[in-house]
Amino acid sequence: MKVFNNIVETIGNTPLVRLNKIGKGILKAEILLKVEYFNPGNSIKDRIGISMVEEAEKRGELKPGGTIIECTSGNTGMGLALAAAVRGYKCIFTTTDKQSKEKVDILRALGAEVIVCPTNVGHDDPRNYHQVAERLLHEIPGAVFVNQYENLSNRDAHYKTTGPEIWEQTDGKVTHYVTTIGTGGTVTGTSMYLKEKNPAIRTLGVDAYGSILKKYKETGAIDMTEAYPYLIEGIGQDIVPGNFDFKYIDFVEQVSDKDAALMCRRLAREEGIFVGFSGGAVVQGLLQMKDQFKEGDVVVVILHDHGSRYIAKIFNDDWMRDRGFLKDEPITAKAIVDRKQIKELVSASPVDTVADAFRKMKELALTQLPVIEGGKDVGSITENMILHLLMENPYYRDTKLAEVMGKPFPYVGLNHTAAEISKLISKENSAVLVKTNMGETTIITEFDLIEAMA
Ligand SMILES: Cc1ncc(COP(=O)(O)O)c(C=O)c1O
Repeated sequence: MKVFNNIVETIGNTPLVRLNKIGKGILKAEILLKVEYFNPGNSIKDRIGISMVEEAEKRGELKPGGTIIECTSGNTGMGLALAAAVRGYKCIFTTTDKQSKEKVDILRALGAEVIVCPTNVGHDDPRNYHQVAERLLHEIPGAVFVNQYENLSNRDAHYKTTGPEIWEQTDGKVTHYVTTIGTGGTVTGTSMYLKEKNPAIRTLGVDAYGSILKKYKETGAIDMTEAYPYLIEGIGQDIVPGNFDFKYIDFVEQVSDKDAALMCRRLAREEGIFVGFSGGAVVQGLLQMKDQFKEGDVVVVILHDHGSRYIAKIFNDDWMRDRGFLKDEPITAKAIVDRKQIKELVSASPVDTVADAFRKMKELALTQLPVIEGGKDVGSITENMILHLLMENPYYRDTKLAEVMGKPFPYVGLNHTAAEISKLISKENSAVLVKTNMGETTIITEFDLIEAMA
């Protein structure tokens, strides 16, 4: 029987998968993605979870029934929670309110206590998630603060597992190693091993705009003017953690939140590889560094975690649109209808009078109404038309719409773009109609169009 004794034994030996479409015509090298979401906790951090627990046990700090405390954006917590479940420890995690809710819920599902702290407070602020973890350590007897930032078992785990796996899986042919950098464990530990095997291997790190790491690599100085809030989770720093050793990193590239988020979506749709924010960041960084690779190079790229933890963020159109990340995409009739709070069509009948129609418009703060008869769009009436009619003759107020209404509003399809719709909207025609996927008719007014584009 081929059986694992427990779930932590299944950690590692993740596959290398070729990048097929995204680099085509841009990257001459062979690009191999090491897909770390195949780990049981769906991220590379499973490797360091068990490694840090075992080291704490060996040092005699973690005893049966003990408590593991950690500052974690979720993935390390997951790795620790799996190890704690198997070995019988309690977990308390501090994290920041920047992290996705899914990650926090998953940790709680695994029995951990999670304390969410504010993101934008200084490192020495008592509310900072490191400071909260430190405080708990002193308050809880038998607690161990594993501290993935300073604990060198973090990078050791990569030295012992990630590095050897890459070397063996590529038959020693790897020429470049590319990864995002957060605590520095993945980049430093793996690079130490690979450079020992072949010092010519180049290690390229991917950082976020808003992090100090690139400047630190290039100048040796911590420049806090480089630090500002960004959205990519798990990468970049405003400190230099102990797990870094910059002599094992040859170059650092920075990427933007928007480019990283859009690349996650491309990886899912074009390659079927469903990764989290830092996975999009690393592939975006790879494309930005294209001139560093030549034909024949074998480039191994780490994808840290799975996209399911970011469903409410980078894979949610509203979240992306709210941050201006979808601005380059043409806005379609479908997107405009999806945004509308009231989708139900308000209409008039040809037997309604001008006064009836105006009353309805006033009540519902509308500036136009389609005139519908037997489910068919037969005409339209607008505020502007009513004004002109009443100016001509106040008795028009009692006239039936059938006698005075304008042309029916034209229909558009759900895929019509805002540019196409705006061509149909004019002084005489202030709206268009559209049939939703449910077969219902709804209206797109000039106001809806402006709202979608503003
Ligand atoms: C999703 C994700 N990507 C990248 C990283 C960076 O890895 P490392 O901390 O080993 O530098 C982390 C670390 O928390 C992470 O959670």
